[in-house]
Amino acid sequence: MEKMSDAEGNNRLPWRRGCHPLMLAPMQGLTNRALRGLFVETVRPDVVFTEFVRVQAGARRVLPATGRAEVLGRSGGVPLVVQLIGADAEALVAAADMVQELGGEHLNINLGCPYGRMTGNSAGGALLRDPVGLAKLLARLRRHVEVGFSVKVRSGFDDPGQVLSLLPVFEDCGVDFLIIHPRTVVQKYSGPADHRITATAVRDSKLPVIANGDIFTVADAERVTAQTGAAGLMMGRGAIADPLLFKRLRGEYRAVSEPAERCRELREYLLALLPRYRDLFCGDQQILCKMKEVLSQVQEPDLAKPVRSLLRSRKLSFFVEQLAGLGDAAS
Ligand SMILES: Cc1cc2nc3c(=O)[nH]c(=O)nc-3n(C[C@H](O)[C@H](O)[C@H](O)COP(=O)(O)O)c2cc1C
Repeated sequence: MEKMSDAEGNNRLPWRRGCHPLMLAPMQGLTNRALRGLFVETVRPDVVFTEFVRVQAGARRVLPATGRAEVLGRSGGVPLVVQLIGADAEALVAAADMVQELGGEHLNINLGCPYGRMTGNSAGGALLRDPVGLAKLLARLRRHVEVGFSVKVRSGFDDPGQVLSLLPVFEDCGVDFLIIHPRTVVQKYSGPADHRITATAVRDSKLPVIANGDIFTVADAERVTAQTGAAGLMMGRGAIADPLLFKRLRGEYRAVSEPAERCRELREYLLALLPRYRDLFCGDQQILCKMKEVLSQVQEPDLAKPVRSLLRSRKLSFFVEQLAGLGDAAS
């Protein structure tokens, strides 16, 4: 089968020809425009995504206000993919039109979110329960979407091989590329991501496939790339915990940092994020809560003690005071 690679002229892809893109994953509650802005300025992912933007039938606005702000958010020359989550075709078409009117250049549909209560039980990963309906929905959307169009999909709803049976659907619908997070929807985040599925999808699909799931270190990235031959990589939790992962993967920074160095890196990162969060969020308690959401993604055993202690802060001022001392010999 002839693979439609980026080198062959699909100019709707959000990455440069010949590049093996490293993408920052969409993460609800985390990859807001403040955090994306910091990543773009400091470690420059090749592609960034909005958090998912909810699209609901009968909603007062076609796109919620936060969604509009996300689309309009500048991304410093790094391609921004707007991710929509919804199940109603009319509402999604209207939202896609709106994103394009606002200047959005890349649209992505979420086919993975396992949390029904966030999405009205029928969107995200739940769309995989009805492959025929999904094919109709994607074909309909593609007719309206003149810009880049991609899907981010789990390996299946409850069958980890389901995504392989959907590859012809994605191709026939005119999807430009797909991102696979190889866990099923029912699995949520339990068990390891099974990149054997990604590897088979890369082999069997004409479309560029981006591998996502459990890439926390340079060694993980090398393993997934070798195992799958994917067109690029997407990092979520690993990148939020350690933005330098992008530089480590490009060989622009040491591959591994010693624990003391990691503490200092974490301190610099969170101190740089803080003023951006002060601009975006309201009041010390909300800012503290959002900073803790980021910090909670740091799961390295060597950092467990300082992270636990920061997470116990009840006041932003105390959090900042502790953070300022993180990585000092005495801390
Ligand atoms: C807190 C959180 C929020 C997430 N929000 C989104 C989202 O808005 N859209 C989406 O497609 N996936 C979302 N995901 C899934 C991630 O994009 C990614 O697929 C998953 O975390 C696996 O990649 P990782 O192992 O690199 O984190 C979210 C995951 C987490 C943990």
